[in-house]
Amino acid sequence: MKNIAIAIDGPAGAGKSTVAKSIAERLGYLYIDTGAMYRGVTFLVIEKDLSFDQKKEIIKLSETIEFEFSKDGTEIYLNRRNCTKEIRDPRINEKVSIVAKIPEVRNNLVKAQQKLAADRDVVMDGRDIGTHVLPDADLKIFLTASVDERAMRRFKELKEKKSKDQVTLNEVRNNIIERDRLDSTRVAAPLVKAKDAYEINTTNLTSENVADKIINLLNNLNCGNQNQ
Ligand code: DC
Repeated sequence: MKNIAIAIDGPAGAGKSTVAKSIAERLGYLYIDTGAMYRGVTFLVIEKDLSFDQKKEIIKLSETIEFEFSKDGTEIYLNRRNCTKEIRDPRINEKVSIVAKIPEVRNNLVKAQQKLAADRDVVMDGRDIGTHVLPDADLKIFLTASVDERAMRRFKELKEKKSKDQVTLNEVRNNIIERDRLDSTRVAAPLVKAKDAYEINTTNLTSENVADKIINLLNNLNCGNQNQ
């Protein structure tokens, strides 16, 4: 039987990871958080004391990292080391767009993502999943939400995690605006909605509402295929 792939794209804080996790759990699919992979490269760049100008070294590094996720997709392993907490540090938020705009890094990570999605049912979230990583995904979703709502969600998330570097709501909001700008204006695989993606504005919806909508879309698709 053919494997199913659900691609979920959208800007930071649109609710992608919560929704993707919930769908993966309900359907028994693997959740793959591609943002965590770009964060992982950024974390290792900092840990190895590389400068963000050392493009060649960063590209080389991205090629050699072995990425793995726990079964439920919530833990990430870089070269077999659990780095789930480390990649959420606010320093990573500031630098990750620099790493994510290097085309060769993207190529390396896209290959790793396609390999992770081969031979199993997946829900993958990111910025370029429907457009580049899984262009033939069975279902493509593009999530959006207002900047204020997205900033509030990220702020609450950071507070809950009791991150040691406390940031203000305004700093989170500015970081989101800047990342939106960098993610959507970069030359390599910018954040754009795939032509065949369903757009869902999540501003006034709970993550469970959104997950229900996506599962309904998938079920409708399956009915359509059976009727053909
Ligand atoms: O979803 P996130 O905030 O964890 O993503 C971290 C960064 O990685 C974000 O600034 C955009 C980038 N990213 C990307 O360029 N392509 C992806 N498929 C996923 C994330």
